[in-house]
Amino acid sequence: MTQAIATPTMARWEEDRFQRVRREVLARWPTGAGVDLDEAAAWHREMAPGKNTARVLREAREHGRTLVQPRGGVADIEQHIELLRRLRHAGADLLPTTVDSYTREGRYDDAERGLAQSREAGRSLLNGFPAVNYGVAACRRIVEAIDAPLFCRTASPDCRLTHEIMYAGGSTSCTAGPIVFSLGYAKDYPLAKAIEAWQYSYRMMGAYRERGVTLSVEHYLPISTMVPHSTSMACVILDSLIAAAQGVRDISIGIGQQCHLVQDAAALRAYPALGRHYLDAFGFTDVELSTVMSQWMGGFPADEGQAFGVICMAAMAGYLGGVTYMISKSPHEAAGVPTPEANMHGVSASKMVLRMLADQKFAPMAEIAAEQAILEAETRAIVERALELGEGDAALAAVRAIEAGVIDVPFSPHRSNANQALPARDWRGAVRLARFGGVPIPPDIREHHQAELGKRMAGKPARAPWELLLADVNAISEGMLLPD
Ligand code: 5AD
Repeated sequence: MTQAIATPTMARWEEDRFQRVRREVLARWPTGAGVDLDEAAAWHREMAPGKNTARVLREAREHGRTLVQPRGGVADIEQHIELLRRLRHAGADLLPTTVDSYTREGRYDDAERGLAQSREAGRSLLNGFPAVNYGVAACRRIVEAIDAPLFCRTASPDCRLTHEIMYAGGSTSCTAGPIVFSLGYAKDYPLAKAIEAWQYSYRMMGAYRERGVTLSVEHYLPISTMVPHSTSMACVILDSLIAAAQGVRDISIGIGQQCHLVQDAAALRAYPALGRHYLDAFGFTDVELSTVMSQWMGGFPADEGQAFGVICMAAMAGYLGGVTYMISKSPHEAAGVPTPEANMHGVSASKMVLRMLADQKFAPMAEIAAEQAILEAETRAIVERALELGEGDAALAAVRAIEAGVIDVPFSPHRSNANQALPARDWRGAVRLARFGGVPIPPDIREHHQAELGKRMAGKPARAPWELLLADVNAISEGMLLPD
């Protein structure tokens, strides 16, 4: 029997609903029985402050520092701990536990097999750490072995059991969001259902908060390849409102690098003000905000030197945008999951650039301010229209705005995405919309998009829009920003 999905609402869950669903979630795998929220909150309260993400991010913001976090996760716990130690040694300020794909999909029996086979083979046959199979005590062993905050990095429409285990296991942050993960990674999972699954996770974090423990979430749209920053920002703002409504009080909001230095920096500068504006408007004035940037999520060059070029440019964009932390890539990105050494080099290259820039105080750049004004106007137009459609409810706004193509994410695999908006890089490599679809970009800014794109096309033979798009999407992996 398929369960009917109620009309989405951002309203805070009642305690009995949370407890009822919680029993089902924890029963999905035997390790669920090992979660005791009161005991786990007490464990967190005893934790060294330097391992709490919210605390470490606040310090970074106060000192104007940019932190670096790699991704990383292997099947065997000893090897995972060793990997984290090495990443820390390379300069990582925040440490990851990237969860394997079976766990992301709730296929814990397959993860169990993969774990056994990995042990037999002596190397990881899983693309991450199967946290649910290991359970709470093992996760705490990781936290005890390191001296930095641990992030739970799992990405799917429903991560509830992984969150239960990993937060009880001492992680203090997770990468998150029903809208960003549905539009970024899922095809058939209904958005309203993803919102419910995430509301559960957010409510759980709220329950920790009520017990004196602040847990953090990170919201950014993982497909950032030429998705206008304003569209990403609209998704992130709605996800953040949905999270805050359930009691989450520490949120990082941000972007995936697009490799246009000025636009990336402008987006990172626009996010905190816009995030603050909407959270305050909904009464969530006590939510603390940081910014985050993932280094380029599109195709990477196979050449390791070129890959370092992308990584170092990300560090520069992050610096110019005053980002709180960035998630690093490695020179192996084009090939797949990196070796520990390659992963370490991604961290140390990023940190090197950030250290060298740290004392070079730039005067505010007019170009960044101009791009920031454009992004802010676009984002406000999208979010205002979405909230209108959603009758002031962020969850309903998300569902209706996506249906209407007001939020339209190019390249999204999700069935409900309209796919009418078409991006292209302009003559200077900035991302514009060549076709707006239902995205309510204000008229004066539309003209700007068209004029800047026109400058790129001027004097060149006409090309089909899809041809141009394909060339733009592949350009960076081929060693340049603009293909022609
Ligand atoms: N270890 C390191 N990086 C990982 N990624 C995914 N799984 C792992 C892992 N286990 C990285 C990919 C890509 C990003 C989305 O996550 O290489 O850069």
